Formats: sequence, C-alpha cells, structure tokens
Amino acid sequence: MEIKRIAVIGAGAMGTGIAYQAARFGIEVNLNDIKQEFINKGMNTIKSMVKTGVDKGKIDLKGAKTIVDSIHPVLDVTEAVKDVDMVVEAIFENMEAKKELFKKMDAVARPDTIFASNTSSLSITEMATVTKRPDKVVGTHFFNPVPAMKLVEVVIGEKSSDETIEMAVAFSKKLQKTPVKVKDSPGFIVNRILGALMGEAMKIFQEGLASGEDIDTAMQLGANHPVGPLTLADFVGLDIAKATAETLHKGYGDCYSVPKLLVEKVEKGELGMKSGKGFFEYK
Ligand SMILES: NC(=O)c1ccc[n+]([C@@H]2O[C@H](COP(=O)([O-])OP(=O)(O)OC[C@H]3O[C@@H](n4cnc5c(N)ncnc54)[C@H](O)[C@@H]3O)[C@@H](O)[C@H]2O)c1
Repeated sequence: MEIKRIAVIGAGAMGTGIAYQAARFGIEVNLNDIKQEFINKGMNTIKSMVKTGVDKGKIDLKGAKTIVDSIHPVLDVTEAVKDVDMVVEAIFENMEAKKELFKKMDAVARPDTIFASNTSSLSITEMATVTKRPDKVVGTHFFNPVPAMKLVEVVIGEKSSDETIEMAVAFSKKLQKTPVKVKDSPGFIVNRILGALMGEAMKIFQEGLASGEDIDTAMQLGANHPVGPLTLADFVGLDIAKATAETLHKGYGDCYSVPKLLVEKVEKGELGMKSGKGFFEYK
C-alpha cells in the first residue's frame, strides 16, 4: 500500500513538523488536536515553516500553496483517522494518554491503517497491546525540527510485522529522511545515548562543578558537538527531557537517575526555550 493520506494527532512542535514534511512530499494530512485553538496555532506554525521554506528558496509559491491546501484541520479524532493509510501520533509523552488514544482510534480506523507513534522513548509494544492490530503498530521517531533533521528511528515492536516496518521505512524515505531500524527498548538508539549525555551535563551543573555556558562550550569544542547538551535539553523541552529520563531510569536502573534539578525546573514551569527559561534564558 502506498501512503497517500495520513492523520497526524497532536499539533505541537513535532506534529506540525511531520504534517508539513508529509504535505511537502505529496501526502494529504488530517491534523488533529484536542482543542480548535491548538489546531489553529499548529496551522500558523506550519504557515511560518512554509514562509521560511519560500524565503530560503526551497519551495516555490505553487509548492507553498499545495502544502497549506494539503493539510486539513480536523477537530474530531474519529473523523481524522477514519479513512487514512497511516496515523502518526505526536501527543504528550505519556503512556496512559497514548494508550487511551490508540484504543479510541483502533475502534474507528480502517483495519489496514498503520499506527505509528513519534514517542521519544516509550514502548511501542505496550501501546500496541490496547489495539486489535499489534502487527500494524510501529514507531516513527522524527527529530526536532522535522524539516531540518534527517533521521527517523523506525522502532520495531514485538509484534510489528515486516510489512508494517517496511511501510514505515518507505514513509520515512518519501519524506526525504534516512530511516534506521531499532528494536523496541527504552530510548531506542538516540535518546538512550543522549539521555546519558544530557543527564551527566545536568548533574555537573547541579553539583556546581562548572557553569552552564562552560559545560556547553566544553562539549562543543572538546567533542565537536554542534550544540551543547544543556542548550539541547532546553531546545527539546525540559518536560520531554524529564519524561525520557524517567523512562530510561525505569528501563535501565540507576545509571539513568533523573537529575533533581531537572525535576525542580519542570515543577517551576521552566521548560526550556518554549517557556523562555530552562538552563538558560531566552528572550
Ligand atoms: N520535542 C522534541 O524535541 C521531540 C522530538 C522527538 C519526539 N518527540 C515526541 O513527540 C511527541 C510530541 O512532542 P511535542 O514536542 O510535539 O509535544 P508538544 O507539547 O509540543 O505537542 C503535543 C500536542 O499534543 C496535543 N495532545 C495531547 N493529547 C492529545 C490527544 N489525546 N489528542 C490529540 N492531541 C493531543 C497537545 O494539545 C499538544 O498540542 C512526544 O511523544 C515527544 O516525546 C518530541
């Protein structure tokens, strides 16, 4: 089956990026969120992505119109998933919320519709248990910002069929991304490695051993990383970073303990760039 129409559930940072990228490469998209205002905000984000694409000469005006016209805001999730080839779930990083959504979608989507989750670290196998189609559940883990980041981790659940995995690979390639395959496991490849890196950076900061600026400079100049680990955490969002750290701790034990400072920052609403303050301040 060729993927011609998808539903993207969750019109936040990732959902809007995935919707934009899919529409850019010829796929019709139903964009859903829990409130109309969130969908409207998501559509405005997509329009600014289109404008950036035009300003940079990557998209012409006809292409820009096609992208916007190919993304359909749909508030009712039943309507959004009813007749699509694939659903890409990009809601909050919370297993119970994802399971509740998967169950609801399973009851109304076509039996051949693939359910892909953009989760950063949670178990695809567990999400699949609430559906009657565990063979059609897979992870497609895109990276932020989606238009610029070239990787997709295709996460293979215990029951994902070969056909579903190959569909996820083909979908990623259609969106001009490079897929890598990984078996379902907490954090997959990238976040298991990044979780260790960002966690240790936060602990060095928390222990007062170096300033945030110096920690980031050390990793940029000493390890040739394009962005320091604390700035990266602020960019990802500290709520997402905390959820990922908790999953890694649960999955692998104390070598992935959740930094106390990270918990405190999330409790204070210091979520990184999106809230204006995280490890650094943003105007
Ligand atoms: N932010 C990142 O850098 C990043 C990178 C890769 C993967 N992810 C993963 O992608 C997913 C989304 O992350 P994000 O950063 O876009 O989050 P976000 O907070 O920017 O957006 C999430 C959106 O989902 C909506 N939502 C919540 N519950 C919903 C439901 N039941 N139905 C419909 N919409 C619902 C929210 O209203 C919100 O608009 C998470 O699983 C996250 O771990 C995030």
